[in-house]
Amino acid sequence: PLIQRLDYQQPPYWIRKVDLTFDLDPAKTLVTSKMQVERNTAVPHGPLRLHGEELNLLRVLINGAGVSFRQEGAELVIDNPPDEDFAFEIRNTLCPEKNTALSGLYTSGGSFFTQCEAEGFRRITYFLDRPDVMAVYTVTLRADKARFPVLLSNGNLTRSGDLDNGKHFAVWDDPFPKPSYLFAVVAGDLVAREQRVRTRAGKDHLLQVYVRRGDLEKTEHAMNSLIASMVWDEARFGLPLDLERFMVVGVSDFNMGAMENKGLNIFNTSALLASPATATDADFARIESIVAHEYFHNWTGNRVTCRDWFQLSLKEGLTVFRDQEFSMDMAGTPSARAVCRIQDVRQLRALQFPEDSGAMAHPVRPDSYSEINNFYTATVYEKGSEVVRMYQTLVGRAGFEAGMKLYFERHDGQAVTCDDFAQAIADANPGSALDTRLDAFKRWYGQAGTPRVKAHGEHDAAARTYTLRLSQQTPATPGQTDKQPQVIPIVMGLLDRHGMPLPLDADGKKEQVLVLDQSEQTVVFQNIDSEPVPSLLRGFSAPVVLDDGLSDAALLVLMRHDSDPFNRWEAGQRLALNRILAALRAGQPLQLSNAFIEAMRGVLNHAELDPAFKELALTLPGESYIAEQLDVVDPQAIHAAVIAAQQQLAAALRDDWIAAFEAHQIAGGYTPDPVSSGKRALANLALSMLVLDAQATGDTVWPGKAYQRFKDASNMTDRLGALAALVNAGSSLAAPALERFHALFKDDALVIDKWFSLQARAPEVEGRVFARAKALTKHADFTLKNPNRARSLLASLCMFNPAAFHRADAAGYVFWAEQVLAIDAINPQLASRIARAMDRWAVLAEPYRSAAREAVARVAAKPDLSADVREIVERALASG
Ligand code: ARG
Ligand code: ZN
Repeated sequence: PLIQRLDYQQPPYWIRKVDLTFDLDPAKTLVTSKMQVERNTAVPHGPLRLHGEELNLLRVLINGAGVSFRQEGAELVIDNPPDEDFAFEIRNTLCPEKNTALSGLYTSGGSFFTQCEAEGFRRITYFLDRPDVMAVYTVTLRADKARFPVLLSNGNLTRSGDLDNGKHFAVWDDPFPKPSYLFAVVAGDLVAREQRVRTRAGKDHLLQVYVRRGDLEKTEHAMNSLIASMVWDEARFGLPLDLERFMVVGVSDFNMGAMENKGLNIFNTSALLASPATATDADFARIESIVAHEYFHNWTGNRVTCRDWFQLSLKEGLTVFRDQEFSMDMAGTPSARAVCRIQDVRQLRALQFPEDSGAMAHPVRPDSYSEINNFYTATVYEKGSEVVRMYQTLVGRAGFEAGMKLYFERHDGQAVTCDDFAQAIADANPGSALDTRLDAFKRWYGQAGTPRVKAHGEHDAAARTYTLRLSQQTPATPGQTDKQPQVIPIVMGLLDRHGMPLPLDADGKKEQVLVLDQSEQTVVFQNIDSEPVPSLLRGFSAPVVLDDGLSDAALLVLMRHDSDPFNRWEAGQRLALNRILAALRAGQPLQLSNAFIEAMRGVLNHAELDPAFKELALTLPGESYIAEQLDVVDPQAIHAAVIAAQQQLAAALRDDWIAAFEAHQIAGGYTPDPVSSGKRALANLALSMLVLDAQATGDTVWPGKAYQRFKDASNMTDRLGALAALVNAGSSLAAPALERFHALFKDDALVIDKWFSLQARAPEVEGRVFARAKALTKHADFTLKNPNRARSLLASLCMFNPAAFHRADAAGYVFWAEQVLAIDAINPQLASRIARAMDRWAVLAEPYRSAAREAVARVAAKPDLSADVREIVERALASG
């Protein structure tokens, strides 16, 4: 059934207090739930309807006595509950070890874990499983002491001890009222790294990171990240930790990255465990940001939560914004901050832009859904974060902090909406560019699609004026044809043709925020002597596609001289993109211009630019971003153009790559700081270019060096970088290196995931990568039951390797359909993620388009699909 945002109604009952007892057993867990229920007098009297899925109901008592009830679909209905507050008791059992969907209570590696967001609590016991029902929980856990020595739930441990028959118990009290999606239980044979900290407010806290025995050495980075997050949130937003104890737990079977359960965050081990030998620089950075993200949710999500799931971006967009700001502050220097920003924008363009122009396009605040798990998307998270960033751009950093303060003053302890957030930021900044346009600004929550902004400048030499004409238009998306103008902050400056910044007004200001809020708008700058180069949308100040029509000459000025590092990077990307698109449109082989190659050489050899920035500037735009610029997408042609560009850059800059590789070796031990990881990134890019070029020239020196480096590397970044150089170039040394890598790391699941994913993401040559990936599904280490492993092969191939996946013989689509159906029987959430590989089938060129449609239709024709996959494939079919 389709749930509509505008149908929201308060529940007819509130559950204020819950007393839960678990008798934990993998095969049959008994849950006893004692609730205090109160009628909600704000809405008409009606039956009490509780959600419940895959449960065996044993008994239902009201005020201690049996009561008549019905089971209606997935609901337990009590037609005539008392008018007065009453005590309500439910007993049910469930089978955690058979729970392969990893939602609710399940087992992994012999321990118990929960995942309740969004609607998993109803798979544990019957409940009003919706985020506006907030209760105080007391949880008693009972289990076999030898098998499950650690018993954890939310809040504070109040009692524990031994029971008969080798069992023990623990009682946990969470003093903060919370929605059921933040409930958590963990029980098993785990060990913890512990740290006591005192906050600025003078409170003492115990921090714990729980993992399986043997993984303790890999938790140091997560603990450091947690401490840094605490310090940052107190310093930047004045938000302290509110619990005596804060626990983080790792689990290898997990559908997402991590979960912010109150006081008991649960993490996918891929987002928690790191050691120099097994994790890359990118892993270290990702762990820091996810640990921070979950910690920051304690205020933005837990203390103030969502009224209903349509408001998901209220907590996710805001918390992503906070974790991005944290990562930038941790990075330190302006250049390192820019590197973070560029990476975030690259991610947005690679994932969210295609989503916004495909079958699943939806607003940051969706209007309807049939399965809420399908809306934990790049739009809700990453575009949602860009929306929060625009508030900050419109009211300034201090204004935004004042807005956050007011938001907590008004709404602490409540379940609220995106409107409440917008109102708080605006009210704290009366008369601001936001406050005066609040209704129009809120269109960012309601309109799907990425706005197109056009800019055209005209210089009048006689009048010494520069006139900038701006216009905007948001394309139609499924179900939304007419769009209104958005409020688009455009941070900008003007450069003269030598790259010197020009004053924008009489005060000599060099940068300003233009607020575009009409379909068309004109701005005139005075006292401009000669044709300037506009630098628009600095720092990517709004999630839009900008067409400023700049010539290559103007882009070169920006690339060399702009004061904004993001736009320097962007200018280089635009130069590359222009070349690639021109070749694709003309159907001609790609030929990079000398000007472009010399510009890239200039970046690579630049004396002042950071290595991390150089690496980003020298990396060509991704294939999915290139596809975004085209009305009809031929994945094979795009791939061919990108490979040609890479080969030309590899050959033309060969000596420079050698110099860069040699200049960026690091002596001494490994640290994942931005400077060292930037050097490693550039050295690894140089190595991959050198091996690629060697493959073309027949040189054996660089492949040999890469193999040696692969063998001798003292950290995973360099080892994997060298391995990737061999694999991606199609070197004959790739096979022995892959074999050696597998033998070295066969007992480390997270590293074996990298082994699968590297092979499935390799550049396609004559169908060999596809054939290898298909064969890997039969590998002894492959399983569909572990989401990380399934994704490492299937998402890598179907979602991140377009040239291997989109085949003229349709074998990729047939494979996709088989895998989606097989996973759907085990884990619908995971299946529906992989199903999204077909989101953009309708823009494919023939013969891909017809074959893709047929595969989607075949999946949609299956009668017993999960609601998750059904929603994805039906939306896909409707989008054509
Ligand atoms: N709230 C979690 C986070 O952003 C994501 C959990 C989503 N889980 C799910 N099954 N939909 O960190
Ligand atoms: Zn989140």
